[in-house]
Amino acid sequence: MKTSVMGVLVVVFVILTLIAGCAPVAAPAPAQQPQAAAPAAATTTKTYADMTLCYPQLGAESDWRTANTASIKETAEKLGIKQLVFSDAQQKQENQIAAVRACIQQKVDVIALPPVVEDGWDAVLNEAKMAGIPVIIVDRSVSADPSMYAAHIGSDMVLEGERAAEEFNKMLPDGGAVLELSGTTGSGAAVGRAEGFRNKLNSNITILDSQTGNFTRAEAVPVMQAFLKKYKPGEDFQGIFIHNDDMGIGAIEALKAAGVKPGDLKIVSVDGTRGGFQAMVDGWFQADVECNPLLGPQVYEMALKLMNGEPVERETLTNETVYYPDKAAELLPSRQY
Ligand code: AHR
Repeated sequence: MKTSVMGVLVVVFVILTLIAGCAPVAAPAPAQQPQAAAPAAATTTKTYADMTLCYPQLGAESDWRTANTASIKETAEKLGIKQLVFSDAQQKQENQIAAVRACIQQKVDVIALPPVVEDGWDAVLNEAKMAGIPVIIVDRSVSADPSMYAAHIGSDMVLEGERAAEEFNKMLPDGGAVLELSGTTGSGAAVGRAEGFRNKLNSNITILDSQTGNFTRAEAVPVMQAFLKKYKPGEDFQGIFIHNDDMGIGAIEALKAAGVKPGDLKIVSVDGTRGGFQAMVDGWFQADVECNPLLGPQVYEMALKLMNGEPVERETLTNETVYYPDKAAELLPSRQY
């Protein structure tokens, strides 16, 4: 009996010793936290189908503008954007500002703004910036600091004026006097073209007078009539620089009524619309400086980049040329605007 008790004790001792030998010495490692699920890969790349773009158009004052509106609308359709918020400010800055504010309220993705005039945009651009909505300035320029908007897409208006001046320098090598029928006062297009014209016009050519026709046919007619009351064509002035084709067509109406014939005066216009081409075919314009309104594709491409946080060019200038009467009849049928 004693022996068997001893035997059991020995067995228990051996088992306990073995267990003690295998026991971990260090404190057990804390249980591992379950791995947080890896964040889903960034699948938020935006497409045209996500895009709501605001285009507060400045007006419908010219064939150029009509073509610009068509380009914006047709491209929206073609790309299948979610929504185009389009409005017509009827050449009034207050209407454009109200339209931009409505777009900010609506939380559009991008605002593409063709500003009627250069000044007076700081407050509303700041509101867009505060709301995190990028603004692309389209066509004409603004005087606001470039940090207030994402980019500008449009024509080099100063270069257009310079090109017009070079045409007069060629046509009036012995000098003379010209009239200027200018665009909307304070607009980037009128300011730039006037500046460029003065930059390059030869010193033997004087600018006899300059008045605005607000970029419209209707307003150009009385301005030209008033010029013709004051100055004798061919004697007091030899040429007219006209800031757009629509005003050129209005001016032709007044010139015809006053008995002026095609070719009596040197006339250079800007835009290159079908109306301008027709005026070259008919012998009224000696040159038409191109200003391209078909900006839709560039605007949407840039807007999509901005929606995706991609870098964009701060300044995109349209590549343009000068058209002359010799090719006008041939090119007229294929003009898109
Ligand atoms: O800003 C572009 C100018 O505006 C075009 O030359 C003119 O036709 C339009 O009204």
